[in-house]
Amino acid sequence: MIGRLNHVAIAVPDLAAAAAQYRNVLGGRVSEPLDQPAHGVTVVFVELPNTKIELLSPLGADSPIHGFLARNPSGGMHHLCYEVDDILAARDRLVAGGARVLGDGEPKTGAHDKPVLFLHPKDFSGTLIELEQV
Ligand code: CO
Repeated sequence: MIGRLNHVAIAVPDLAAAAAQYRNVLGGRVSEPLDQPAHGVTVVFVELPNTKIELLSPLGADSPIHGFLARNPSGGMHHLCYEVDDILAARDRLVAGGARVLGDGEPKTGAHDKPVLFLHPKDFSGTLIELEQV
């Protein structure tokens, strides 16, 4: 059911510093910051040959990233995103198998203007999983 690894997301306390490190130290192809108010984050993408890295920083007081950074002050891996062909079919199969979908269970529009869902980390070895329909 799951396909390619679309991206690895890393929460960072200082987006400009993290973007500069990926650009200047690691030599990555780094995008400009993009605010995503619906998700409470500002995102920088690093394009790699086989996948992407998403650097996430909090946007707004209700950002879901604040709690993560409180527990991980220097930042850390926040989620993995796997591609699926049909997000509703994937959700129904996961829910039938006992997995928990975060929020109201309906796909939202994600960082790449595609439908996404998040799965509870306790159901997947402590890792928050995002599914993106491609
Ligand atoms: Co993501």
